[in-house]
Amino acid sequence: MYNKMSLRDVKLQGERVFCRVDFNVPLDDRGGIGDDSRITAALKTIRYITDQGGRLILASHLGRPKGKPDPKYSLAPVAAHLSRLLGREVRMAPDCVGPEVSKMVNTLRDGDVLLLENVRFHAEEEKNDHIFSRQLANLADIYVNDAFGAAHRAHASTEGVAHMLNPAVAGFLMEDEIRYLGKALTEPARPFVSILGGAKAKDKIPVIHNLLKKVDALLIGGGMAYTFLKAKGIEVGRSLVQEDQIDLARSLMKEAETLRVKFLLPEDHVVAPALESVTEFRVCGNGDFPPSWMGLDIGPATARRYSAVVGDAATVVWNGPMGVFENDTFAKGTLAIANALAESKAVTIIGGGDSMAAVKQAGLEGRMTHISTGGGASLEFLEGKKLPGIQALNDKF
Ligand code: 3PG
Repeated sequence: MYNKMSLRDVKLQGERVFCRVDFNVPLDDRGGIGDDSRITAALKTIRYITDQGGRLILASHLGRPKGKPDPKYSLAPVAAHLSRLLGREVRMAPDCVGPEVSKMVNTLRDGDVLLLENVRFHAEEEKNDHIFSRQLANLADIYVNDAFGAAHRAHASTEGVAHMLNPAVAGFLMEDEIRYLGKALTEPARPFVSILGGAKAKDKIPVIHNLLKKVDALLIGGGMAYTFLKAKGIEVGRSLVQEDQIDLARSLMKEAETLRVKFLLPEDHVVAPALESVTEFRVCGNGDFPPSWMGLDIGPATARRYSAVVGDAATVVWNGPMGVFENDTFAKGTLAIANALAESKAVTIIGGGDSMAAVKQAGLEGRMTHISTGGGASLEFLEGKKLPGIQALNDKF
């Protein structure tokens, strides 16, 4: 299904290689890199291209600068950081298209690296504009997409340009992401368990819909659990409930029953009068939810039960925290799940964003099989959607 050409299939020596990466990284208050995971995840591809004598042109977006230059979203700090990681010069272009950029590309020697400025400084990028794609394509001979995190976007640098350069191939990070997530969806080692959390039921319902046909058990936590509990007629006080999703939640639970998929909801909760509460909180069960309080984490009994299911699994896909883990008071459920995955012998796959942050907070990133660099992209992948950034690449044969 994802039989795409790889970097290994092409000759790179002396070629100008346009490589789309996802360097959309958080910046700290001082303009430094807050978390460089997405940069380090692309190093294997970058090093391979330069070692093979390719003339590397890196392109990425950073943030959402609304189609015009904004120094706040410049990739210059990323060039400096990447330079340090590679131990070699990474030249920074003032733009991603135009005569100045073409001149810089023309002076590249084999093995040199140039980072283009934020592609989203041009409104044409997100419009997947044909002429803009052509301008990007004119810079290079070969297209490599290593930006799994942006593969769900049909933009000029992720999709348009891939149709204009031949070959257009997947980088190593892209390949890894497709391999791990794809295998979980198509031929998982069983039992296959998925843990889904996060605030809103609406964001995860399409994923549940697709995963129900594939998993043996689905464990639900986080704010989204309250919509499902409400759908079962369980009192959840002032917890976050998406009323317009209740019917859908109910029909998904029915479907799980028909498919004989174990569908677990929290049986106890850490509850508090408000989100900001750090001193006033307690644990309650499903029968004794205080009417004016809200659920902000799964309780210890739920954490134990979910951990036991993880302990028996052969494949686990986790997306979304079990509670408001940014607040230590409500982080225990999420950390318990992170620990259960770390202890487990299963293939463990973490789907981007908050769950990745939780795993890092617990210092357990080295103990997971695969941590996806994609937030929205990994969700859409798990929903079973075809991602345009992958679709546009050349098939293997
Ligand atoms: C991400 O951070 O999920 C990707 O870089 C995509 O960014 P976007 O949601 O702004 O398109």
